[in-house]
Amino acid sequence: MTDRVYLDNAATTPLDPRVLEAMVPHLGGRRGNPSSLHAFGGSARERLEQSRERVASLIGASPSEIVFTSGGTESDDLAILGLARSAGSDQRHAVVSCVEHAAVREAAKRLQSEGFEISWVGVDEDGLVDTAQFAASLRPDTALAAVVWANNEVGTVEPALELADICAEVSVPFHSDAVQAAGRVPIDVSEVPVSTLALSGHKLYGPQGIGALYVREGVSLEPIVYGGGQEKGLRSGTENVAGIAGLGEAARLAGEEMDDRVAHERALRDRIMAGTAEIPDVSVNGHRERRLSNNVHLTVAGAEAESLVLYLDALGYAIGSGSACSSGGHKASPVLLAMGLTEREAFSVVRITVGKDNTAEDVDGFLEAFSTAVAQLREISPLYAG
Ligand SMILES: Cc1ncc(COP(=O)(O)O)c(C=O)c1O
Repeated sequence: MTDRVYLDNAATTPLDPRVLEAMVPHLGGRRGNPSSLHAFGGSARERLEQSRERVASLIGASPSEIVFTSGGTESDDLAILGLARSAGSDQRHAVVSCVEHAAVREAAKRLQSEGFEISWVGVDEDGLVDTAQFAASLRPDTALAAVVWANNEVGTVEPALELADICAEVSVPFHSDAVQAAGRVPIDVSEVPVSTLALSGHKLYGPQGIGALYVREGVSLEPIVYGGGQEKGLRSGTENVAGIAGLGEAARLAGEEMDDRVAHERALRDRIMAGTAEIPDVSVNGHRERRLSNNVHLTVAGAEAESLVLYLDALGYAIGSGSACSSGGHKASPVLLAMGLTEREAFSVVRITVGKDNTAEDVDGFLEAFSTAVAQLREISPLYAG
């Protein structure tokens, strides 16, 4: 598949060879359990703590505030369920935005089924959370609030600082899912008073199946996994040392290379935006300026998303149909509906997400293939009048 062009970096990023190199020693036969007292255990523990420092450093946290998990989903679940379940019995309300990843949305629905009341906060047509509605939704019985740092579908970057400040003022714990934002947007938890923050390895050129949750010192969380008490009792189970070593290295590289990566991605993203703007009846979703450097999200009238993705795949270009994380079902994306798209429009969206390894040639080839695919699909569409 080497001649294929990968433009679906929001779904997962390629593993950076430098990250793989950091993982290999911990995949070999002489690995240790970080809880063991002997030298094998000690060396695994050392790597774990080095990675904890590196992840903490990417977001301005203290190493003691980082909990390793199995990925973004578990981090979100631990934050949402953990904050809610550790709140007082008279705090049975949560405030959650309508543009959350399914990991947060479904955890909130789970709370709802346990008797919590959820206030879902709306967004404008660019996917920006309504801060006034958000502030007005907070109540004395609110156990937590959650807003994604940057949306995974349309790439809109939310006003995290403003929202976290609003919550801090009334002492409501605030969770933010920074899975897509980390490494693309500077995040400093010493400036932004989030209580918890979710990260995932495989969106950062790290391994899949590893993530972290930042838990601010003093924030109380009920675990969702019980057992041997690893990770300060917040995430029992023998740690995924190789994955954690990879996440640590990925975080270190992301911090070091962020400016260059962002500039590179932005140039490619804007090239795609400019090229696709020349095709009639193609429109961009999400905020134009407050937008992730790698994200192009388009409504393509007269072309059904899956057909377009498969057509382009046949031409050698991998892109996403709306959101890969919510694929598998035939429901319109709740995020797009909340932004005001009709159901029909929401089925005609594609997400093109560039990464640090893409080139201008990748983009030029894609634009040619995209324009061919759109024209062909429109020609056979009974619904497109053009
Ligand atoms: C914003 C966001 N949150 C959470 C997740 C889930 O992360 P993971 O795949 O590591 O479970 C994703 C994955 O697409 C995401 O984009």
